[in-house]
Amino acid sequence: MSTNQTEFRSVVTGIGGYLPERVLTNEDLSKMVDTDDKWITERTGIKSRHIAADGELTSDMGVKAALKAMEDAGVSADDIDLIVCATATPDKTFPATAAIIQAKLGIQQGAAFDIQAVCSGFVFAMATADNYLARGQFKRALVIGAETFSRIIDWSDRGTCVLFGDGGGAVVLERQDAEQAGESGVLGAHLRTDGRYVDLLHVDGGPSSTQTVGHLRMVGNQVFKHAVNKISESVRVVAGEAGLELGAIDWIVPHQANQRILSAVARNLGVEENRIVSTVATHGNTSAASVPLALNELNKSGKLKKGDSVLIEAIGGGLSWGAALFRL
Ligand code: UT7
Repeated sequence: MSTNQTEFRSVVTGIGGYLPERVLTNEDLSKMVDTDDKWITERTGIKSRHIAADGELTSDMGVKAALKAMEDAGVSADDIDLIVCATATPDKTFPATAAIIQAKLGIQQGAAFDIQAVCSGFVFAMATADNYLARGQFKRALVIGAETFSRIIDWSDRGTCVLFGDGGGAVVLERQDAEQAGESGVLGAHLRTDGRYVDLLHVDGGPSSTQTVGHLRMVGNQVFKHAVNKISESVRVVAGEAGLELGAIDWIVPHQANQRILSAVARNLGVEENRIVSTVATHGNTSAASVPLALNELNKSGKLKKGDSVLIEAIGGGLSWGAALFRL
């Protein structure tokens, strides 16, 4: 470990989120495919989701979330020198959506790049930004999760089209020295991938393979089986390495794929559900945006306090999964 890693902490100083205006309800979906509100509610907990307007891009939602996070942190474009954007639905194959967001925000310094870990993207992006800040290479990062999954959904596949939504969320992550940070900062992260399961959740297209964008394909019940155990493992590892009992963690902010997964993880870990943030009913699964969007809801509720410990966790295509822990 370099000296710098022990000197600096990455502290979350601002949180923001953005959801597109259009709401698609279960009732709406029942007119599009052979499904109904009862099935979707009982199997997933989802009642509605937001869908990006025509011409509204992943970068647009990332920008809106980033501006809210910057406002919350009290910083401006001149203060940001790193943008890490987690997305599986970039505006274009290249350049990185982070670069487009950088330009739209009028930021002219530092670096900007994307992270591709699908639904786990925000957890991977937080861990990545934390490492850059902790090594002293950048001062203040925007960590963004933004997605337009509505553009890669097969709207005739009832097994997947009822699950996903669009949106963006962001945090400002700031390098502070140990004295300034006190107890605050990122306390650890646990990231995993097992590529043997790539076919369980993937998009059947891409520049190198088909030269098309493709559509999302998922063997939902198999992903479900992996989700509970793998997420629980990551949560235990990251809490254990930080020396925190699960009972001492104030908030768990999970990826919002399915209320049944959230509840099963809570049962598995012995954590009361009132400490687990759930937005799945009104957001659906927004992939990399779901964790920062849920964090934003928690922040807006006024319940999140300085000094609170927050554990974020996710699983998605790859399979990739992980958890990260920070104290506000
Ligand atoms: O974000 C990345 C991580 N993703 C996840 O974690 C998703 C994990 N998976 C899940 O959340 C669940 O597996 C689903 C919600 C996707 C599906 O729930 P399930 O309880 O695993 O159902 P299933 O896929 O085993 O399907 C059960 C039945 C099937 O009918 P048969 O074969 O039993 O006759 C499906 O055809 O439900 C049927 N079905 C539907 N019925 C009405 C599937 N989708 C629908 C639908 N409406 N929308």
